Amino acid sequence: MSNNPYFLDLTHRPRRNRKSETVRALVCETSLSAADLVYPVFIIEGENREETILSMPGITRKTIDRLLMEVQELVDLGVMAIAPFPAIDESKKNPMATESANPKGLVQECVRRVKAAFPQVVVMTDIALDPFNSDGHDGLVSPSGEILNDETVEVLCKMAVSHAEAGADFVCPSDMMDGRIGAIRCALDAAGYTNTSIMAYSAKYASALYGPFRDALQSAPKAGDKKTYQMDPANRREAIYEVALDVDEGADMVMVKPASFYLDVVREVSDHFDIPVSAYQVSGEYAMLCAAANNGWLDRDRIILESLLSIKRAGAKVIWTYFAKEAAMLLERK
Ligand code: PBG
Repeated sequence: MSNNPYFLDLTHRPRRNRKSETVRALVCETSLSAADLVYPVFIIEGENREETILSMPGITRKTIDRLLMEVQELVDLGVMAIAPFPAIDESKKNPMATESANPKGLVQECVRRVKAAFPQVVVMTDIALDPFNSDGHDGLVSPSGEILNDETVEVLCKMAVSHAEAGADFVCPSDMMDGRIGAIRCALDAAGYTNTSIMAYSAKYASALYGPFRDALQSAPKAGDKKTYQMDPANRREAIYEVALDVDEGADMVMVKPASFYLDVVREVSDHFDIPVSAYQVSGEYAMLCAAANNGWLDRDRIILESLLSIKRAGAKVIWTYFAKEAAMLLERK
């Protein structure tokens, strides 16, 4: 005992477990690996062309040949999953979004060429009509402006089968409407694609964080918003209900989106369900972190890894992120 009146007689000193880099590594609870990441990519028609996206510095829309070069870089870094999103020419959009299921369409062609060159790369395709729909909505729109639930499903099923035929590993229904997962599972099975997986965007919120993505694809809705299908950011319990339905209908993996503002939902979903949970660090999250880093307000390398680690810690097994390539480089360096 010391005479020091401020003497602390402590049994517990949690700092002991932080005393050195190696002790910290030993007790570290969460780790991030390139194998956890999915890299979303924006594709365009043509050859040897790339376009910058103002609100997403460092990300481009590119032709498939350029993408193949990038996939080689990803593979070298250990990022083994990509998710192509097509920017479709206005002239190919119509109110029935027919281009979505064209077997020779941009996405189908992309899947075919990526899988031919890199059979081991996991290709995850988006199943929603917004890039192909002249209305910019994820579903068909009635003359009165209603976003149609049941009428849209046939187009989605044809789209999913065309992606499976092209070789997609996962089809990823993202329109947040009802009954998609079961209908698409049936359509895939009936066409013989029992091995094509479904990653359901189960808890996708009507978020302001998708702005840069809609710039990238010029896919913003022409009228109205997406609040009758995407979830209210105020709701947490509803996410459990949505995920339960998709699991019931046969989803192989589910998603919470966006990620950072919804970590409570990621945690809850991963506590409730035993299937793998993914989370999408969306375009607005990417844009915010880039903007702060570009201003010198945040340390770019550290904030990238910290943001991804938080998503992993919240319970996501898989993280979709525009930082995938950069994060993999940082992880390699560590
Ligand atoms: C559309 C879709 C969106 C994103 C992925 N798929 C946009 C939307 O719902 O309007 C957003 C991704 C991002 O912001 O990075 N089905």
